[in-house]
Amino acid sequence: MAETLVIDKNAPKEARYQSLLPQLEALVSGEKHTVSMLANVTAALKEAFGFFWVGFYLVEAGELVLGPFQGPIACSTIGFGKGVCGQAWQRAETIVVDDVNTFPGHIACSNASQSEIVVPVFDGAGKVAMVLDIDSDSIGHFDQCDRVYLEKLGAMVSKFLSKA
Ligand code: SME
Repeated sequence: MAETLVIDKNAPKEARYQSLLPQLEALVSGEKHTVSMLANVTAALKEAFGFFWVGFYLVEAGELVLGPFQGPIACSTIGFGKGVCGQAWQRAETIVVDDVNTFPGHIACSNASQSEIVVPVFDGAGKVAMVLDIDSDSIGHFDQCDRVYLEKLGAMVSKFLSKA
């Protein structure tokens, strides 16, 4: 696995995703251990984009359990259908929230969080195995570009899980 990421922090967002994705692919496919892989993915996203909070919640015994993340401490568990994460799990689809204050049932792990994207990650059987949650401290931070590239990242992690 590459030890250093090459990131042009002055590049526009899409260019940064385009340069980061192949590096993430190498990082994910070169890893044997799920937790190590998820930890490095969160670190890479934090380094590339400076997100306020980025992490994974893992489906375990009928709830979402906090996994590897970067950012302030967060809620340890989230129920099925609860908050943005639980809803993304239930719907098995990405949710982009421009303003978390208007999202019914949003779980505020931090008052600083203002917008959010949650991308489900599927196991080899097509069931949601975990969600990738990214929070921003500004309103309307996430758009179609984030959705497209983060779903590609989700597919890489799914591929890893189906081989694990
Ligand atoms: N806001 C999330 C909870 C997790 S934190 O943002 C890290 C939600 O509503 O599911």
